[in-house]
Amino acid sequence: MRIVIMGAPGSGKGTQAALIVKELDLDHISTGDLLRAAVAAGTELGKKAKEVMDRGELVSDEIVLGLLEQRLLQENTKNGFILDGYPRNIAQAQALDGLLERIGQPVEEALQIDVDEEQVVTRIAKRAALEGRSDDTEETVRNRLRIYGEQTAPVVDFYAHKGILSRVLGDGSIEDVFQRIRGVLQIHSAS
Ligand code: AP5
Ligand code: MG
Repeated sequence: MRIVIMGAPGSGKGTQAALIVKELDLDHISTGDLLRAAVAAGTELGKKAKEVMDRGELVSDEIVLGLLEQRLLQENTKNGFILDGYPRNIAQAQALDGLLERIGQPVEEALQIDVDEEQVVTRIAKRAALEGRSDDTEETVRNRLRIYGEQTAPVVDFYAHKGILSRVLGDGSIEDVFQRIRGVLQIHSAS
């Protein structure tokens, strides 16, 4: 199965994607994680990306598509994948369509996790205290949320028009949300 998981910063994309890949044996491809790995490796690309990420803005479409392409072609994605954090604007959604068409693997499911802003701010503040991700400061989070509203939220309609969008309520416990996603994806668990 090929899935795109979407939602505001802190909505639970990474958390839920990790549970889904375990159950369906998919590849978890997070552009945020790919970028953080480049930052940690201290590459030129990583240095450029870090400045942008620390402001809460979007890294250029070209850089992110390059990383994504590399990852998609390099890994064995025979069971499919879940894309977390990509696409983040309409241009990226169109580029993804083109790329996946070329390799004959179109997106089959787009999952949108809906959580209100107050909750995501609380979650990120908690994570900031625990992990200290450099873009989890109050000011950067505000900017990430603004950019999300302006550029990323419209991508939901892009997938709605294709008829492959499902919306899932992202409040409650991690397990509650996962059960809702299971329902949408119709995953049957023995447990
Ligand atoms: P990215 O890493 O994608 O960050 P994000 O979208 O801002 O989202 P987060 O990772 O903060 O949240 P999440 O939705 O994954 O939630 P999580 O599961 O962690 O991107 C970072 C930056 O990289 C961007 O700002 C941009 O600069 C750049 N970038 C990335 N992709 C790009 C692209 N395509 N184009 C351009 N630039 C790009 O959960 C959050 C917290 O809440 C965790 O601590 C978790 O444990 C907790 N939690 C989760 N679910 C629950 C629950 N149900 N109840 C209580 N707590 C919960
Ligand atoms: Mg994440």
